[in-house]
Amino acid sequence: MNLSILGVPMDLGAGRRGVDMGPGALRNARLNATLRGLGHSVTDLGDVAVTIPETVDKLEQSGLIFRDSILGACSEAYRRLSALDADTFPISLGGDHSVSMGTVAGASQGRRTGLIWVDAHTDYNTPGSSPSGNIHGMPVAHLTGLGDPQLSSIGGLNNEGQAWRVRPEDVVMIGIRSVDPAERELVKQAGIKVYTMKDVDTLGISRITSETLERLSGVERLHVSFDADALDPSVCPGVGTPVLGGLSYREGHLLMELLSESRRVTSLDIVEVNPTLDTRNTTAEVMVSMAASLLGQRIL
Ligand code: ARG
Ligand code: MN
Ligand code: MN
Ligand code: MN
Repeated sequence: MNLSILGVPMDLGAGRRGVDMGPGALRNARLNATLRGLGHSVTDLGDVAVTIPETVDKLEQSGLIFRDSILGACSEAYRRLSALDADTFPISLGGDHSVSMGTVAGASQGRRTGLIWVDAHTDYNTPGSSPSGNIHGMPVAHLTGLGDPQLSSIGGLNNEGQAWRVRPEDVVMIGIRSVDPAERELVKQAGIKVYTMKDVDTLGISRITSETLERLSGVERLHVSFDADALDPSVCPGVGTPVLGGLSYREGHLLMELLSESRRVTSLDIVEVNPTLDTRNTTAEVMVSMAASLLGQRIL
């Protein structure tokens, strides 16, 4: 396959600094060489330009924390990814999870897109519901059309001339164990399918993956957005919002292996890797191995 890698070194959406170093840590963990070793042709597009937080006022013009700079970086990621051929598989490297407002839109090529959100968090806050005000807790709400009107229309117009959106029924979340009170109501109202950690424990990843693929059988593109904090903090310590009781190393790999076997996934994000909180780049190395499993690495 032709893979294109795009870094979005942004920590403006997170409450803690340091995820802007995620793209460097993932490349340092041999992402490109690992994927080439699986037989892929890999093009690195470099990094999107991101505002340095010290150079601007936190509330900028909009009154939402770093909203204008996040909008700028996400729009640039959107432009870079939508310019790729439709048969190229884009891998976007965060950066905090707000990068996905641009990368999911860009990778979608204007098509109906299924979104598999692998995360401890639902990231379904709006500026009105968020207890923290951090935009990395809001990307899925914006991708489905809620929240700030500019953040929710980064994907331009679709073939019918309407703002491109992910349909709530085309979103499946896996690994969830932390949802804010008002966010919970928004997730329920939208009708988003959520597999919590309790579901992972009771149903198992294998059944969850087949149900997910069945549910998303009507989409044209399929995007996996993988937040490193979906995995247990004992596996991925280098994250800014760790929550105990996450996916095991094998559960993460099994999910990626089964999605890979389906041959339906068309794009990937790897986000929230924070080298300043990590031990010896472990989190980046684990996330590179997850990408490898999604892209064809097999045990035998
Ligand atoms: N729910 C919390 C908030 O909205 C945490 C979000 C964490 N998101 C993430 N992408 N790590 O602030
Ligand atoms: Mn997230
Ligand atoms: Mn998360
Ligand atoms: Mn378990």
